[in-house]
Amino acid sequence: MNILIMGMGYVGVTTGLLFAELGWQVTGLDTDTIKIQALSEGKLSFYEPGLDLLLKKHIESGNINFISSPEKGIRENAIIFICVGTPSDKDGSADLQAVRGVAQSIGSFMNEYKIITVKSTVPIDTNRKLVQWVQESQSYPHPFDVVSNPEFLREGSALYDSFHPDRIVIGSTSEHASTVIQSLYDQIKAPLFVTTPRTAEMIKYASNAFLATKISYVNELSRLCETLGVNISDVTTGMGMDQRIGPQFLKAGIGYGGSCFPKDSMALLYTAKENQIDLSILDKVVAVNNSQTTHFLNLWEQQLCGFRDKTIGILGISFKPNTDDLREAPALAIIQQLIDKQANIRVHDPIAKLPEHLRSASVQQFDAIEITLQQCDAVILCSEWKDYREANWQQLRTVMNKQVIFDGRNMLDGKEMTKLGYSYFGIGNR
Ligand code: UDX
Repeated sequence: MNILIMGMGYVGVTTGLLFAELGWQVTGLDTDTIKIQALSEGKLSFYEPGLDLLLKKHIESGNINFISSPEKGIRENAIIFICVGTPSDKDGSADLQAVRGVAQSIGSFMNEYKIITVKSTVPIDTNRKLVQWVQESQSYPHPFDVVSNPEFLREGSALYDSFHPDRIVIGSTSEHASTVIQSLYDQIKAPLFVTTPRTAEMIKYASNAFLATKISYVNELSRLCETLGVNISDVTTGMGMDQRIGPQFLKAGIGYGGSCFPKDSMALLYTAKENQIDLSILDKVVAVNNSQTTHFLNLWEQQLCGFRDKTIGILGISFKPNTDDLREAPALAIIQQLIDKQANIRVHDPIAKLPEHLRSASVQQFDAIEITLQQCDAVILCSEWKDYREANWQQLRTVMNKQVIFDGRNMLDGKEMTKLGYSYFGIGNR
C-alpha cells in the first residue's frame, strides 16, 4: 500500500516520516517546489528535534520521496492523507481553501479507488463537504472513501508523540477504509477509537479547547494566588496529584501560543456561534489568554517603576521550547508592549529568529545569553528552554545592571535565585 501525503508542513512531514519508519512506501507532495527540493536534499524548513535524522535515514532507505506534481502523486497512490493548513480566517473560522484545493486535485486526477484521509484540523462536517468537492471535480465517478484521522502531536516532541500517541482516532462511514487506515498503525501500541467522521472532527477541537481551558484556568487562578501570596505551582502540584485532574497542562505562565490552541479555540467558537450556541467557558478561556501577558507585565512594570528607557532582556521567543515556531508566541506580545512603553529590548532564543518588523535600534537579538543580558535592568523568561534552566545565573548576575528576574514560565527555582541575590518574580508566585 503506497501512501501519499498532501501538504509538507509540520504535520505532513512528521506523518510521512512516521509511516516511512513503520515500513510503508511514502510520497510527500507539496506544490511549493523549493520546499520539495529542500526535503529531497534532507533539509527541513522548520526546527523539530530528531526529525532531520529520520528524514535523511528514509531518503536513503528509499521509503520516502518528495514530489510537486499532484497528478503523479494522486495516480500512483491508493491512500491519500490530507495534511494541508487550515489557518484562521478574519472572522475566526477555519480557512478551508487549501483543503478544498487538494480535494479538487484528487477528484480531477483520480484513476481508481482511493481512501482519502483528513489529518488537517477541520470544522465539523468538512469530511462531508470533502466528498462533494471531490465528486464535483471528477470526470469519471471512481469510487472513494473518506476517513477523519485527527493528529494530536505537539511541536517540540512531534516524533515521540507520533510513535507513542495516547490514542488513535479514526472516523469513517466505510468499514473497509477504516480497517485499512487502522492497519497502517498496526505497530503503534495505542488505544484505538473508531467513530463517525463528525465525532472524530469534534474530538480534535474539543481536546485542544479543553487543554487550553486547563491552562487559562490556572493562569486566571495565578492572578489570585499572586494577590494572596500563595504559590500557584505548589497549588497545581497538589491539584495534579488527584488522578481525576492529572498533573499535565496545569503550568501557569504568560499564556498559550502556537499554531493550534489559539486558532482551534477561535474556530470552535465560530462553529458554536454559527449554531447559536454560546460556548461561554471557551470564550473566557480565550479572553484570559489574551490578557495574561498584559496582566503580568503591568505588575512587573510597577516593580521597575516603569519600563521607559529601561533595558529588558527577553529569553526565549518561540511559543514553547524546542521549536522555532513564533506563531501566536506570547513573547512577541510582550516585546510589542515593551516597545510601546519605550524600553530597550535585548532578545535571545536558542533557535528562533526575531521577525524583521520587530527589529530596530532598540530591539536587538544576540547569540549568547551573557551578551543579551549585558546592562539589563531586568530579564523576562518567556519560554522554558533548557539553556535558561541550566544557565550560570551566578555569573549572569555580574553582567546585569539590576538583578531582577521576571519568570514568565515559573521555570527557575525562585529561592535559589533569591539566594544568588536576584529579585525574583514568577507567575502567581510572589
Ligand atoms: C497542541 C496540542 O498539545 C497537540 O495535541 C495538538 O496536536 C497541537 O496543539 P502544541 O501547540 O505543539 O500542541 O504545544 P503544547 O505543548 O500543547 O503547548 C501549547 C502552548 O501551551 C504553549 O505555548 C505552552 O507554553 C502552553 N502551555 C502548555 C502552558 O502554558 N501550560 C501548560 O501547562 C502546558
